[in-house]
Amino acid sequence: ARLAILLSGRGSNMVALVQAVQAGVLQNLAEVGVVFSNVPDAPGLATAAALGCPTASRSSQGRKRAEFDAEVVDVLRQYQPDYVVLAGYMRILSPTFIRAFAGRILNIHPADTHQHQGLHAYEWAFDNRLPETKITVHLVDEGLDTGPILAQHPVNLRGADTLAEVERRGLAVEHRVYAETLAELIKQERHAERSRSISTSG
Ligand code: GRF
Repeated sequence: ARLAILLSGRGSNMVALVQAVQAGVLQNLAEVGVVFSNVPDAPGLATAAALGCPTASRSSQGRKRAEFDAEVVDVLRQYQPDYVVLAGYMRILSPTFIRAFAGRILNIHPADTHQHQGLHAYEWAFDNRLPETKITVHLVDEGLDTGPILAQHPVNLRGADTLAEVERRGLAVEHRVYAETLAELIKQERHAERSRSISTSG
């Protein structure tokens, strides 16, 4: 399966995904078609290039959402992605974008999306002294962090007494589960395809 990975900043989830493709759970299952950013000087984009990934960017600054997203859809389509994988992509996607890749856009959210949506999920967990938070991988629909959940993994936050420690523990889980969830999804899809071709080949 070909991935388009979208980021706006640091890109640590992108790195984890690329490593999983190169020598981990996504090996022989996925390839990175492109790493795209709406922030041309995002550190994650330079990291992606250094890792050998094709990269593309368009600045979203000052652009109208629908118009910008239509342009991004055009760019991404050139790479024919099977999945659009949001990895710290700090944009709410317009309906046009979501419909262009319906059911094929994934996001990772550092909290239970039923409990917390939007930004600052680690701050929220830290400020509320939660003993645990849940990393959520979900499909993206037209709401903010409302799409169907594919996987949730708990992070033990007991004894995490700084925000940095909360983030450190959370990100370690993020980096593992995003690739694992994607691998499962791709395997399920392959299996479904195989069953379809068996049932139509007789
Ligand atoms: C991660 O915490 C991710 O869950 C959230 O944004 C952050 C991106 O971090 N959606 P990075 O750019 O992948 O390091």
